[in-house]
Amino acid sequence: MAKHSDTLLIIFTTIVTTASLASADPAGFLSLSCCSPAPFTDSSNISWTPDSAYISTDPINSTSTTSLRFFPGSDPRTPICYGLPLNILHNNAASVLVRPSFAYNNYDGLDRAPLFSLSLGTATAASVNLAENDPVVEELVWRVDGSKNTLALCLHPVEGGGSPVISSIEVRPLPEGAYGLVSDEDRGKSSLLRKRYRINCGYVGGAPLRYPFDYYDRIWDVDQNFWPTRLSTEFKIPVQLELSGVKESPPVEVLQTARVLVRRDTLTYYFSLEKSGDYYVVLHFAGITPVSPTFDVLINDNSVSSNYSVKHGEASSILYSVKGIDSLRIMFRNVSFYPQVNAIEIYEAIGIPLECSTTTVSALKVIEQSTGFDLGWQNDPCSPTAWKHVGCDGNLVTSLELVNMDLRVISPTFGDLIDLKKLDLHNTSLSGEIMNLGSLQKLEILNLSFNKLTSFGSDFDTMVNLQILDLQNNSLEGAVPEVLGNLKNLRLLNLENNKLRGVLPESLNKKSLKVRTSGNLCLSFSPSTCNDVEDHPSIQIPRVTVFNATEPSVQTQKHTKMIIVGAAGAVCCALVIVGIVVCMYTRKRKRDYGTSDTRAEREMKSRSVAQVFTYKEIKAATNNFKDIIGIGGFGSIYLGKLSDGKLVAVKVRVDKTQFGADSFFNEVQVLSQVRHQKLVQLEGFCYESKQQILVYEYLPSRSLADNLHGSDSKKATLNWACRLKIAVDAAKGLDYLHNGSNPRIIHRDVKSSNILLDLDMNAKVGDFGLSKQVPQADATHVTTAVKGTAGYLDPDYYATHQLTEKSDVYSFGVVLLELICGREPLSHAGNPDSYNLVLWAKPYLQAGAFEIVDESLKGGFDVESMRKASSIAVRCVERDASERPTMAEVLAELKEAYSIHLTSLSSGVETLS
Ligand SMILES: *[C@@H]1O[C@H](CO)[C@@H](O)[C@H](O)[C@H]1NC(C)=O
Ligand SMILES: *[C@@H]1O[C@H](CO)[C@@H](O)[C@H](O)[C@H]1NC(C)=O
Ligand SMILES: *[C@@H]1O[C@H](CO)[C@@H](O)[C@H](O)[C@H]1NC(C)=O
Ligand SMILES: *[C@@H]1O[C@H](CO)[C@@H](O)[C@H](O)[C@H]1NC(C)=O
Ligand SMILES: *[C@@H]1O[C@H](CO)[C@@H](O)[C@H](O)[C@H]1NC(C)=O
Ligand SMILES: *[C@@H]1O[C@H](CO)[C@@H](O)[C@H](O)[C@H]1NC(C)=O
Ligand SMILES: *[C@@H]1O[C@H](CO)[C@@H](O)[C@H](O)[C@H]1NC(C)=O
Repeated sequence: MAKHSDTLLIIFTTIVTTASLASADPAGFLSLSCCSPAPFTDSSNISWTPDSAYISTDPINSTSTTSLRFFPGSDPRTPICYGLPLNILHNNAASVLVRPSFAYNNYDGLDRAPLFSLSLGTATAASVNLAENDPVVEELVWRVDGSKNTLALCLHPVEGGGSPVISSIEVRPLPEGAYGLVSDEDRGKSSLLRKRYRINCGYVGGAPLRYPFDYYDRIWDVDQNFWPTRLSTEFKIPVQLELSGVKESPPVEVLQTARVLVRRDTLTYYFSLEKSGDYYVVLHFAGITPVSPTFDVLINDNSVSSNYSVKHGEASSILYSVKGIDSLRIMFRNVSFYPQVNAIEIYEAIGIPLECSTTTVSALKVIEQSTGFDLGWQNDPCSPTAWKHVGCDGNLVTSLELVNMDLRVISPTFGDLIDLKKLDLHNTSLSGEIMNLGSLQKLEILNLSFNKLTSFGSDFDTMVNLQILDLQNNSLEGAVPEVLGNLKNLRLLNLENNKLRGVLPESLNKKSLKVRTSGNLCLSFSPSTCNDVEDHPSIQIPRVTVFNATEPSVQTQKHTKMIIVGAAGAVCCALVIVGIVVCMYTRKRKRDYGTSDTRAEREMKSRSVAQVFTYKEIKAATNNFKDIIGIGGFGSIYLGKLSDGKLVAVKVRVDKTQFGADSFFNEVQVLSQVRHQKLVQLEGFCYESKQQILVYEYLPSRSLADNLHGSDSKKATLNWACRLKIAVDAAKGLDYLHNGSNPRIIHRDVKSSNILLDLDMNAKVGDFGLSKQVPQADATHVTTAVKGTAGYLDPDYYATHQLTEKSDVYSFGVVLLELICGREPLSHAGNPDSYNLVLWAKPYLQAGAFEIVDESLKGGFDVESMRKASSIAVRCVERDASERPTMAEVLAELKEAYSIHLTSLSSGVETLS
């Protein structure tokens, strides 16, 4: 041992290397090399994988050169993301170390090193400036919360910062319980740790230590930059250390060296920190000397520990967090013998923003799907940067602007975005009624201008905070509803260029509110200006097509009118407008429907396909609507008993709108025409004093959805054979609609709640309210407004509005996935990656990875049969409709899967659980 005049540095080097190497196992390491064309193993025996399969940004225009991947032409609001799998980590590691490396090295010869920022999960972790340092290695410690399978690591281009580059990403599981102050109570939310320093104290020679010395592959840097390089001779003492008290498990090799100060009173480390913030300090000590020193530990002059004692043969550590600092001085002050320290880690603690609710995320994903575009929406909508078209306040989505695209309907999912303050859907081809927005009670600005909306709907009752309502350039008809006047905060109401007429509600006549009305038929606050209205024949009324498809459509040619709004005083000067008086028509129509002798009804009654019941008969059969057995899309369903003792399901519809009436006639018409063992039989109907009642055969085991997503006990009774049988039955019914009936019929609302089961679990397809006939036998598609149920809707139909049988095939594919996975098509529980059954299940099933098969089927299915069924399910939900099989093919494949399974049962190859 050599002594220096005032300080003495003792270096202990390791002698216990073999012990720690024996248990080393790099399983659970993920090492992505951002350029390598093929996997390889490095000199430390770590396997490296090409990164391309982990890039989740799509489509991406990235290029790899020999040493890096770069992303040209990147847009600041479109990050480039990797999805790092967390489930491959062994031992369900509680936290992981993520280490991306970046090097520019003038690969493009332009001498323009890029600047960009790096995020992990929802947190912005670091700014990467390769002009300052090249290369850059960041190490981030992320606490794994168990509910997520992947962690997003993204590069965010900055304006003028050039093309982001990346060389490698390493993911390493960390020991359980390590770095435990990560979520300290008063911070209230968790943090990620960004490494600033990790020093192997007293170790000055050679390369930094890492795997295999560190089982977790942390990099321990040499110490010489922090101390005058006055070295003692090497000093070797074999010390067995008791490490069990230290959760961070620093490598024994690191603990075998220390800074030990003998002559001076205090040992001090200074660290410069590039920015002020919260920091997290970990000090490691090990009793490697024969005596047990005692000393005080001070950080930035605050006493962290008094009389800290390091006992021979034991390792210990101090974890300490310091807030709002920009430099760090760690001091060890002699109490007895000498102060010492073996290793120091310093991390910046970066708060992790809360994620948006899963409801919000899944609603937005459904909306993205409905636009038919890839909007580049991935990971969290608000953090680290808000998605394009989306605005946030913290983790709440408060604004959404989707404009100049084809949405056509305001889908119910908009109603899930309850934190919206601003919604702009101008020029999105919206038509029909303003709907599904009633739950947006915080909404302040609503812009639905430049659409084809025809009616106000009833949602404005509840939008109490509305300040600006822009409905200009729509096709709104009739009078302005009184309810708009109740909106106390309304400042601007733009109704320009619609087809409105009549007297404006007096409640809108106030100083604080600006109302714009030009370009309407006749709209004013004064009652006298708009009453010269005459009837003239000319307008085509919506048709109700009934019954017999082979005879020419029977239409109820309603009264047609032409209205002339004459010169009405000075205001509406000599202006003649021809239009539809909707309100008058509606009133008239209602009267017609009220009597029991309209032409439509006479037509209905004249057909013998289905029995016509009187309301009285229905009341008697249902025992005055006593026994409710279901709530459907259009009303309640009651159990009934006909006079002949037959049990029936009685569906009482509540939708009295024209759409409701249309779909009622539609269903009666379709069901009257088609009869098939696998389609729910219509027994009769009642259409009397506005009542729309359908009487079906009663299927006592209710719907597939009830059985699959109801209680667990029900689900358990649906074994694989039973599920395949249900699939085959339903496929038969749909195949008949597509190929057997004339004209062909597209169901349009195939879903598990429309597949009904009898006592023997035979399945039938029901609910034809939305179904559509294909008029000519050879027509390839019909163009319609998009209708259906979220989760089952064909994305191709969304995009093109061309309805074909393949849309039913898509929805049926979703039902097959439900049967296989035992979960609902959209699930707000769990993590956003799995909320959409199709997106989640498809890759697993394509890879034959059956771990996602319903728990209650495990061990009870023939693998070959499952392979067949899942492969047909996956083909059904192809995004491109032309890639999907026909219903006939689906049926054939399912029959085969069924018979394979039955054969395996009888030959005893597999046993049912
Ligand atoms: C590398 O790992 C393989 C398998 O895990 C093992 O057989 C081999 O001996 C290791 N080689 C080295 C140099 O550690
Ligand atoms: C894709 O990369 C190539 C090659 O760097 C570049 O020429 C092209 O402009 C890029 N396209 C886009 C859309 O960024
Ligand atoms: C450290 O403290 C002990 C006891 O207080 C004392 O004997 C010793 O001289 C001190 N060493 C130095 C270098 O100050
Ligand atoms: C530390 O030790 C010294 C003497 O060894 C003693 O006087 C002092 O009270 C101790 N301080 C604490 C906080 O235990
Ligand atoms: C409406 O959107 C379409 C694209 O969907 C665009 O071509 C058109 O110019 C837009 N019209 C207005 C008025 O913004
Ligand atoms: C609604 O959108 C239209 C079309 O871009 C725009 O002209 C109008 O100013 C917007 N309304 C409000 C209140 O911002
Ligand atoms: C349809 O009407 C025609 C002529 O009225 C009749 O011949 C035919 O049998 C009817 N078809 C059905 C299915 O009712």
